[in-house]
Parts: sequence; structure tokens; C-alpha cells
Amino acid sequence: MWPILVPVLLLFNETSWLNPILSSIYQDRHHESVLLLQHSQHGNASDVDRFPWPVFSFNEQMDFYVRGSYNSEMLVLIWQTGNSDWDLDLWQALDRSLLNMRRVRVLLLRKWEKVPTADVAKDAQHLRFLHVAVIGQGNRIYRLQPYAPQQWLEVNPTESPIFIKVRNYFGINIVTLPDQFPPRSIVFRNAKTGELQMTGYVYKFLLEFIRRYNFTFRWQRPIIPGERMNLILLRNMTLNGTINMAISLCGFETPSELGVFSHIYDMENWYIMVPRAQEISTADVYVVMVRGNFLIVLIIFYSIFTILDTCFGPLLLKERVDWSNLMLNERMISGIMGQSFNMRARNTISSKITNATLFLLGLVLSTLYAAHLKTLLTKRPTSQQISNFRQLRDSPVTVFFEEAERFYLNNVFDRPIHYIKDQLHFRETVEYNALRNGLNRSNAFSTLSSEWMIMAKRQELFKQPLFTVQPGLRIIETSVLLSLVMQSNSIYEDHINDLIHRVQSAGIVEYWKQQTLREMITIGMISQKDPLPYVAFREFKVGDLLWIWILWASFLLLSFVIFLCELLANCLISNP
Ligand SMILES: *[C@@H]1O[C@H](CO)[C@@H](O)[C@H](O)[C@H]1NC(C)=O
Ligand SMILES: *[C@@H]1O[C@H](CO)[C@@H](O)[C@H](O)[C@H]1NC(C)=O
Ligand SMILES: *[C@@H]1O[C@H](CO)[C@@H](O)[C@H](O)[C@H]1NC(C)=O
Ligand SMILES: *[C@@H]1O[C@H](CO)[C@@H](O)[C@H](O)[C@H]1NC(C)=O
Ligand SMILES: *[C@@H]1O[C@H](CO)[C@@H](O)[C@H](O)[C@H]1NC(C)=O
Repeated sequence: MWPILVPVLLLFNETSWLNPILSSIYQDRHHESVLLLQHSQHGNASDVDRFPWPVFSFNEQMDFYVRGSYNSEMLVLIWQTGNSDWDLDLWQALDRSLLNMRRVRVLLLRKWEKVPTADVAKDAQHLRFLHVAVIGQGNRIYRLQPYAPQQWLEVNPTESPIFIKVRNYFGINIVTLPDQFPPRSIVFRNAKTGELQMTGYVYKFLLEFIRRYNFTFRWQRPIIPGERMNLILLRNMTLNGTINMAISLCGFETPSELGVFSHIYDMENWYIMVPRAQEISTADVYVVMVRGNFLIVLIIFYSIFTILDTCFGPLLLKERVDWSNLMLNERMISGIMGQSFNMRARNTISSKITNATLFLLGLVLSTLYAAHLKTLLTKRPTSQQISNFRQLRDSPVTVFFEEAERFYLNNVFDRPIHYIKDQLHFRETVEYNALRNGLNRSNAFSTLSSEWMIMAKRQELFKQPLFTVQPGLRIIETSVLLSLVMQSNSIYEDHINDLIHRVQSAGIVEYWKQQTLREMITIGMISQKDPLPYVAFREFKVGDLLWIWILWASFLLLSFVIFLCELLANCLISNP
């Protein structure tokens, strides 16, 4: 049956006994509509449809998603019958339609009762409607005090509000488990007392939550320090009712009959952390020095001057052309190095000018070279940093993901990460963490920015940090929205959201994160010890000149071969 919207904007009916109560409720907190629920078999409810608010009038067959359609403030008025089956029908209709909307205020009309019974309180609590009031005999009004020893409290609408927010849950249990993923939640044994303790920035939040609303944590099973449970597992356990709420976060989803997700508690970036480019070895500095442009400049100038020098012989001195001079001109080599030498045809003016030019060139080149070499030897450059997914694909690095992340990863393969889609390795939680803590530079790992904070802290005092995150290696460009997961119709939802807004606006989340980091250092979970021992002074080693040795040996070999050839040629010439 489709709802009949009855926006009756008639004048206020002063004589109606209900209207003063409703307007008093309206003054406490404005509602935009009234949901009137009466049983179809119970014909003689009265004409209470003369309200100054839109009225949705339904019977026990009501079944539509109110939160999706009209999720503004609403007041529910249930015209109860006294027949327990019929009343149950009405409750169930309400339960179906007000999915994830347990904040509504429910007013029950039970005018035959002096004081509401414990059963009514039980039904309401069972369906998690906590803002309930009953109008009993003589229009006396009783408010439900959920979970309190005294369940019904008579209120006088002229003195105190009929509905108030529940602030005290009298220690009812929240069945929960921590994920033990630093820095979200951490379980450790206190070294002095031997007791288990917990910390973490999500734990601190929930601790504040239970303190404020008087809840108690109850562990679903005994806590074992170091037993990590991934967020998808805890999400599924919450949604299927194994636990009420997890001390963990998970990706935000829209509320449904499966469960509700709180407002965003934390926004993080999701990166792949890759090995950081390290300083190259001293030996490689020499390779860098003769790379590319420098070598070209050197060869061009050498050729120009060698050709000039070779030409001077036949042109100015009328000598024969000496072809070996064109190949290897040792006087030009000395000249470019800035050493003393003589041009051929040294007495001619053109030769003197060439000499002077070569002097200038030699001076500049050798000074530049020496300065550059000295700089690079003192402060060695780093190798190429992997900074985007294409470079990551072409590098020999192995990329690891946690098995649980597959759930979220499947939605993102239209992004740059598709370059490495086939190179991903998935590992179970325990193995994955062992790998990530191993700091092996042949691997890369997926990481959230809060987890990266721990890694950054760990590397803070390293002489050369081992891993890095790069903006080009974000798995999704926008932030990951993390929220707390709860069962559908959760009674915590409203309070959690309130508290999230408060701690966020006060900037406490960031403080809790930093505090957790400091605690982790104190209890020795983050070791800042550099795996590479610090060397104050480093001697020059034979290996530092590796390339020079190789060059030297090959030239030695070359000259030996040429020497043999010359010997052979001489023999052939003298003994024809
Ligand atoms: C409803 O009306 C019938 C008569 O039509 C009456 O017997 C019955 O008591 C009324 N019920 C209530 C709850 O007023
Ligand atoms: C919290 O609940 C307990 C009952 O478990 C109760 O004794 C205590 O007074 C409550 N605390 C507050 C501050 O109301
Ligand atoms: C959790 O539930 C989702 C579906 O909602 C499923 O795809 C996933 O495999 C489940 N994961 C675990 C660890 O149970
Ligand atoms: C709830 O989900 C968890 C994880 O998927 C599973 O291990 C557990 O058996 C489920 N429990 C129930 C009651 O379905
Ligand atoms: C790092 O991992 C690679 C292969 O994954 C392995 O060959 C190498 O031995 C590891 N290095 C260290 C120091 O464990």
C-alpha cells in the first residue's frame, strides 16, 4: 500500500488533548513530519489527523525505506491496541521501514495503562528504538530509560522535555575485537606488570566513546597480542553479527540492511611504498663523470685540434701526412689536459694562436672536470628513483599486497595501477607484515598513510632511508575514506557520528596518532636502529677505482697487441 500523504495545514485544534503534547515535543526538537501508525483491524482510533505537520498515515502493512525517501526528522505516533499480536505487527512494520533510522522519537498511545509494562520496554529495546515515550491513562507521559534499572520515568511536559538523548547506557556490553594493526589498535604486554594493555588511535577514540556513554567492552574471544585481523574480516564479522563493533576502520560504504558506516573518521592516502634511490658507489662516480655530453665535448675538441695539428705538417712545413697522428695525438692529449706540449710547426703564427686557444680550453675543461669529480666524490648522487607505475613495472622490484586488500583493489584497476596489474603478489596478513618489516629493498608494499607514518618514524634516524612514497604511486588519487562499521539499526551510530565530529573539529585524531607513535617507540615496537652501521670516516678502497682499473687493464692489453703488431710489421719490412 502506497503512503497517503496528508498535509493537513488546518488551524491548531486547541481542544485536542494530543496537540499540546506534540507541540511540546516539537519545541524540544523540530520534526518535519509525523508518521501515524495504526492497526487496520483497530477501527476506532480517533481523528488525530488535524496536525500542523505533514502526516504519513500507515497501518501494519507499511513497508518502505523511510531513510532513503524522507530521511529528515520524524516523529512516530503508534496507536497501540492492547492486543499483543496486533501491537507486534505494528512494531514490525516500524522495524522494516525505519531501517538505520533508530534516532526517531516514538510516541506510543496506550491510554488504558496506568504505568507501561516491562514488556513494552523490552520490545522497544529489542528493536533498538530507544527514544520512546508512552501516553498512558489520564494523559500521563512516561519516558523509556533504556537499560536503566528503572525503565519508565514519568515526565511532566511542562517541566522537562519528553524525549532526551540517551547518555547513559549503564554499562551494556559492546562485543568487539581489536585489529591490532598499528597505529589503529595495538595490544602489548606491560613490561613491569605483565598485564595486557591496549593503545592506538582508533582504540583511544572508542575508549572515549564508551567512557562518555557508559558502555563496556567485552572481547569476543581472548585477546592474543600480535594476532592481526585484517579489516575486511572484522568488517564481515561485524556485519554478520559475530561482534557489535570492531576496533578498526574500513572503507566507507553506503548504509544498507547489511550494516551502517559511520561518518568519516580518517582520510588517508593509499600508496605503494618503493625502495628509495640510494647513493651510488664511489666507483660509479667515474662512470657518471664521463657520461654523455662531457664525452661528446671532449671528442669534438680533440678532433678539431688533432685535425689542425695534422694539417699544419703538410701545409706549412711541406712534410708528408702522418696518418697515425690523426688517430692518436699525444701532444693534443697533453694540451687538453692543460700540460705542456708543442704544436707541430711551432714557429708559425697560426700554430701559436691554436696553442693559445688550446691552453684556454684545457684550463677550463680540466678545472671543471676536477671540480665536478670532487663534488661527486664528496656528495655522491643517487640512482634513478621509481616514481610512477610505469617505472615500477619496468623495475625488478616485487610488489606485495595483503590478501584482504583484493576486496578494495578490484574496483581500481581503471587507474594507473593497471600497469602493474599482473605483477601483484598477494600474501596473508602475517606473512605480509613480516615481509614489510623485513625492509628488503627488492620489494615494494602497499601502505596507508598512517602505516607509512610508522615506517617514516622508523627510518627517521637512518643515514639513508630505505623506503619512500611518491605522489605518482598513489593507488587512488583521492583519499581513502575510513569509517567505523556497525550493524544495521545500530544504537551507536548517532553517538559515534557526534563524537567523530567533535574529535575532528578539535584536531584530536592527529594528536592521537602522534601519541600512538610515541608510545610505540616507548614500548619498543618501533626500532629506530639503522640496519646499515654508521661509518664516520671511510678510507679510499681499491674497489673505488674499479672502472679505472678496468680501463687501465684494457688499454694495457691494447697497447701490448699493437706492440706485437708493430714488431711483426718491422720483421716483415726488414726481411722482405
Ligand atoms: C472501539 O470501538 C468499539 C465499539 O465500536 C468499542 O467496543 C471498543 O472498546 C473501542 N476500542 C477502543 C480501544 O477504544
Ligand atoms: C555506568 O553504569 C553502571 C552500571 O553498570 C552504573 O553503576 C554507573 O553508575 C554508570 N555510570 C554513570 C556515570 O552513570
Ligand atoms: C567479506 O565479505 C565480502 C562480501 O561482502 C566478501 O567478498 C569477502 O570475501 C568477505 N571476506 C572475508 C574475509 O570473509
Ligand atoms: C561471520 O563472518 C566471518 C568472516 O567472514 C566468519 O568467519 C564467521 O563464520 C561468520 N559468522 C556467521 C555467524 O556467519
Ligand atoms: C631480498 O629479497 C630477495 C628476493 O625477494 C632475496 O633474493 C634477497 O636475498 C633478500 N635480501 C635480504 C637481505 O634478505
